[in-house]
Amino acid sequence: MKKFYKILEKKVSIALINAGYRTEEVVVNESSRPDLGEYQFNGVMALAKEYHKNPLEIANAVLEQLQKDAFFKNVNIAGPGFINMTISDEALISFTNDNDYTYTKNGKLIFLDYGGANVAKSLHVGHLRSANIGESLKRLCKYLGYDTISDTHLGDWGRPLGLVILELSKRHPDWLYFDEKYNGEYPEVEITNALLEEIYPYASAKAKEDENYLKEAQKMTTKLQNGVRGIISLWNKIMEVSKTDIKKIYDRLNTHFDLYKGESDAETYVPEMLSYLDTLNIVEESEGAKVINVAEDSDKLEIPPMLLIKSDGGILYSTTELATIYDRMKNFNPDEIWYIVDKRQDLHFTQVFRTAYKSKIAKESTKLVFAGFGTMNGSDGKPFKTRDGGVMRLNDLLALVKDESLKRLSENITENRDEIAEKIAMSAVKYADLLPNRESDYIFDIEKFCDLDGKTGPYILYSTIRMKSLLNKAEEAGISYNKINVIDNEFDKDVILNLNNLDNVLNKSFNYKSLNDITEYIYKLTTSYNRFYTENVILKESDELKRESWLYLTKTVYEVNKILLDILAIELPDKM
Ligand code: ARG
Repeated sequence: MKKFYKILEKKVSIALINAGYRTEEVVVNESSRPDLGEYQFNGVMALAKEYHKNPLEIANAVLEQLQKDAFFKNVNIAGPGFINMTISDEALISFTNDNDYTYTKNGKLIFLDYGGANVAKSLHVGHLRSANIGESLKRLCKYLGYDTISDTHLGDWGRPLGLVILELSKRHPDWLYFDEKYNGEYPEVEITNALLEEIYPYASAKAKEDENYLKEAQKMTTKLQNGVRGIISLWNKIMEVSKTDIKKIYDRLNTHFDLYKGESDAETYVPEMLSYLDTLNIVEESEGAKVINVAEDSDKLEIPPMLLIKSDGGILYSTTELATIYDRMKNFNPDEIWYIVDKRQDLHFTQVFRTAYKSKIAKESTKLVFAGFGTMNGSDGKPFKTRDGGVMRLNDLLALVKDESLKRLSENITENRDEIAEKIAMSAVKYADLLPNRESDYIFDIEKFCDLDGKTGPYILYSTIRMKSLLNKAEEAGISYNKINVIDNEFDKDVILNLNNLDNVLNKSFNYKSLNDITEYIYKLTTSYNRFYTENVILKESDELKRESWLYLTKTVYEVNKILLDILAIELPDKM
């Protein structure tokens, strides 16, 4: 990938050197005054302070250097010393023609933890953002040249599973799984996902009002954690059923994991990790529990110690979390681990990360990153619910959007309506989910998300398909196009200037671990293309040089949109 801003910054740096100034941190930005120039360099003021000079003197010296370069059509100074730059058409054309839109591998490994589905519980709307943001960040990392490993980190252990198994034992006391003396093969039993989804809320509610039931559930959890054979076999069966269902929904969201590990896998590393921690003298006793103190002097809010072992000897979410880092460091040794989890789990991760560094379970050089996200709310501003106030299942939410998309699908589409509506619906959900900044909450608004006009997935898809159909028509007419020859008007120019921003946008998105820069950018690029498309009659243009340029520009925007849609994990239908 050729990086437009890097080229500009280099040119400014060279101009500064030639004029006799230092060149650290040279940053060129898109201009806030397009009437004066396309790009601006505002660093002269800081240099003036440092060199005790009039900024205009420095700006003029830089200007004189830049003006020698044919790369620029115009360079001028505004106000006290802002340098504005306009690029020559030749430079813009050759940059666009020569770009290849690929990044080379950089040898760094980023491990991404997202999804976070819980076994035996249905995925709910709260899991949507983790899947979407996580999947897209993974694709972005890969695109930028990182190696990645993705893991769902299933909630497959502990209390919730204890509850489900207890309730199964109440309903089917005759099942051999519960007979601890039995040591033969276990016969097939019928467990469906629908059953599990019904059982968990039931058992969870019951444990809240019935103390005996709660105690029994705790016992069952202990049996599970102690590896009682029948209980583990039943748990395996539950895992199998539940995972199949979870995978189906993730497939629907075009979200795919390298690993389907979970809290239960971390359990394997707990004893080894605990004995390692024992050698360090950092584990303290507190009211019968074992904790690790992680408070720091600079804390503005109190950070309580991380709970390692409960007073009854049981382990917790934080214990398996730490053991998961232990596993990941030992087996994958990544440069960074990113957690894409609801921002309300912030404290949990602060405690675990601090413990991981303090104990050297994570190397100092390994970046542990908590990328917390905001919630999707209903129009009342509270987390999105079903009509009767319950938690909305993710599948039900996707079905709503699918229905809306089918309803809006043009009657001209007679084939594959269902498949096309599914892709449009997923684009609507995903784009809307990735549009707000990662940490912001947003409101679910189905009408807005599915609108063909506006900042929406369907708008991007529709426009991209239209680019493709123009290219198809050119091909059918036997017109070839291999480069841009001329920049003809403000509309094709604007598209080219937007294309120059690609590398910046991708890196900004990577740095902030938020997709909003990309969703905004694809909208801006697409809109500038659509304006150009409306203003110019492309195929019928009689000037062949112009026609070739416009078709090549169309192809470039189409390809960039495809790259971006792929990063957003949005699939493009053939028609809509
Ligand atoms: N299963 C958890 C939940 O539903 C999310 C897991 C997030 N990942 C992690 N490593 N803790 O809240």
